[in-house]
Amino acid sequence: MPERPYTLLSCSVSLDGYLGDRTPRLALSNEADFDRVDEVRASCDAIMVGAATVRTDNPRLLVRSQARREQREARGLTPSPMKITVTQRADFDTDSNFFTTGESEKLVYTASARVRDARARLGPVATVVDGGRRVRMRRLCEDLADRGVRRLMVEGGGVVHTQYLADDLVDELQLVVAPFFVGDSSAPRFVTDGRFPWNAGRRARLAEVRQIGDVVLLRYALSARFQDS
Ligand SMILES: NC(=O)c1ccc[n+]([C@@H]2O[C@H](COP(=O)([O-])OP(=O)(O)OC[C@H]3O[C@@H](n4cnc5c(N)ncnc54)[C@H](OP(=O)(O)O)[C@@H]3O)[C@@H](O)[C@H]2O)c1
Repeated sequence: MPERPYTLLSCSVSLDGYLGDRTPRLALSNEADFDRVDEVRASCDAIMVGAATVRTDNPRLLVRSQARREQREARGLTPSPMKITVTQRADFDTDSNFFTTGESEKLVYTASARVRDARARLGPVATVVDGGRRVRMRRLCEDLADRGVRRLMVEGGGVVHTQYLADDLVDELQLVVAPFFVGDSSAPRFVTDGRFPWNAGRRARLAEVRQIGDVVLLRYALSARFQDS
């Protein structure tokens, strides 16, 4: 079977399972948990988010801690991991933080038919990768492994989560639950509709429960490759 990176899906949700409330970057987590996420980021080779997250949240996706950036550099790595997104429309502001911050490589996967247009729009700020007739996450992961990515962090949003989880590509799920409700069914959910490998007949293994101030981290082992560190 072709190789794929160890894949860790990390996100925070409201008590009613939403990723946000339609305003950019709703803080579902707290400072202590942001720092924990920063540590996880620093341990990865690449971070992936969907195009809607790039447009809505304008994330930088950098390692925040100076000490962690220096530790990475001492290991011969860039201060922050490579950034990856996926798009059909390739409709991005090239001044957005995804493209303008950090020294690491930025990869944009898109379908073969869209590559030319995407390269014309994004050529100067990112590497546009031909993801095939339709971009499938399994193939994308195999391509990342070929590029030397051994550890991948998937950080949203729900459309991207759904594909990774339904295709059984996630080794570890880190789900943080915030102590409040969003209460708006038009807000983005943790996942959209899908056929997931874990259901009432095949329950996921809960590997850890950790209270971090007013939020709780749930770690699930979703594959035999799960690393209990
Ligand atoms: N709470 C958290 O931890 C957290 C983390 C991240 C994001 N969020 C929130 O999540 C929301 C966004 O989530 P979302 O589910 O709406 O979107 P998303 O997963 O971020 O992005 C979806 C977009 O990605 C592209 N895409 C996904 N799969 C593709 C494929 N196989 N081939 C080609 N393109 C593909 C498409 O982009 P195009 O439209 O460009 O074609 C699609 O519209 C935001 O509100 C953000 O604030 C929350």
